[in-house]
Amino acid sequence: MSILQVLGIKTDLIKPGDDLAASLEKAMTELGLALNDGDILVVSESTVATAEGRVVALKDVVPGPLACSMAARYKKDEHEMELILQESDEIMGGIPGVVLTLRDGFLYPNAGIDNSNAPPGSVVLFPANPQRSAMQIREALSHGRKIAVIIGDSRTHPLRLGCVGVALACAGIEAVEDARGQKDLFGRELKITRKAVADNLVSAAQVVMGEGDEGIPAVIIRNAPVAISEANCPIPTIPPEECMYIGALRCGPRPYTGGYDQLIENAKEAMNGAYAPYSGFKVGAALLARSGRIYSASNMENAASGAGICAERAAISSAIACGEREFEAIAVVGNASEPVSPCGICRQNLIEFGEDITVIMANTKGDALTAAISDLLPKPFTDRCLK
Ligand code: THU
Repeated sequence: MSILQVLGIKTDLIKPGDDLAASLEKAMTELGLALNDGDILVVSESTVATAEGRVVALKDVVPGPLACSMAARYKKDEHEMELILQESDEIMGGIPGVVLTLRDGFLYPNAGIDNSNAPPGSVVLFPANPQRSAMQIREALSHGRKIAVIIGDSRTHPLRLGCVGVALACAGIEAVEDARGQKDLFGRELKITRKAVADNLVSAAQVVMGEGDEGIPAVIIRNAPVAISEANCPIPTIPPEECMYIGALRCGPRPYTGGYDQLIENAKEAMNGAYAPYSGFKVGAALLARSGRIYSASNMENAASGAGICAERAAISSAIACGEREFEAIAVVGNASEPVSPCGICRQNLIEFGEDITVIMANTKGDALTAAISDLLPKPFTDRCLK
């Protein structure tokens, strides 16, 4: 039985302009290591980028107006923000200190720009073309042997603390193995399973590599049950609209699963009082104040059509008249095929009293969706805009 081995290659500090393949070869010789047929060499992305001279002193970067405004918004250094804009295809959003970027179909924090393992005042960008780098390193180190090279980075998973490995590029190995059609323990066919072989190998390498001052920029993985091939394919990605995380986190309305049943009942009752002789469309709203009181109302139309008022605004007005200023949730119900959505003017009136108000949109059939008011009205005009 062959035993999987993960062998670290400790090197001197790699500097811009160094011949990385030669440095690795020298280090391997000193350690008494040599690459065998079937070996997979995992090299850290920041080492490849450093050797390729992708190190930038932040003081040399001139931030443009967009970088300055985004830096203020995401509480980042303006110079670094400028580099992020230059290095990414799209900025998906962010939180203070980090923006989520898309580059070549991959999601990265801060376009992959790294302050760690860079000289003070400098950052390391990604290799300009990781696929080309992987192929070049393989070419330089194979000497006729069947080896594979993976350029590895670290990444986090949503809601998980800690980094795992991710492959940026590979040469001589299939990055993703299609396990569909294989059988599970109970003979059922696997339908969607694909194995991220290259990512898993980078994670294994990182157990040995570390992330800090270990000085181990590359690792040999030996006896892995993985075929070496002539594959030089880019790492497969899926478009954002097919991605579960991106799709779910777009924060549009999601199915209502409970918590405000009473509020929905109150809104349904209020609907009966609607005065809607012109549209025939009766709407009820029930607004839950932080005090615990519920204010219900219905829509009220008028022969002069613009003089009417929606159920939600009528409920807000009656709550405000009673001195309420803080609200938790509002339920809106109508007799419609789809759950009733608050109109734009009502969204504006709701967000005036809190960006986190929960909106439950329902119909009399029992369909219901929910969303925070801030998700129904992104980038709202609020009192903050007056300052
Ligand atoms: N309406 C509401 O009361 N709330 C909504 O969220 C949507 C629309 C009313 C206004 C009008 O009386 C009728 O529905 C048709 O537009």
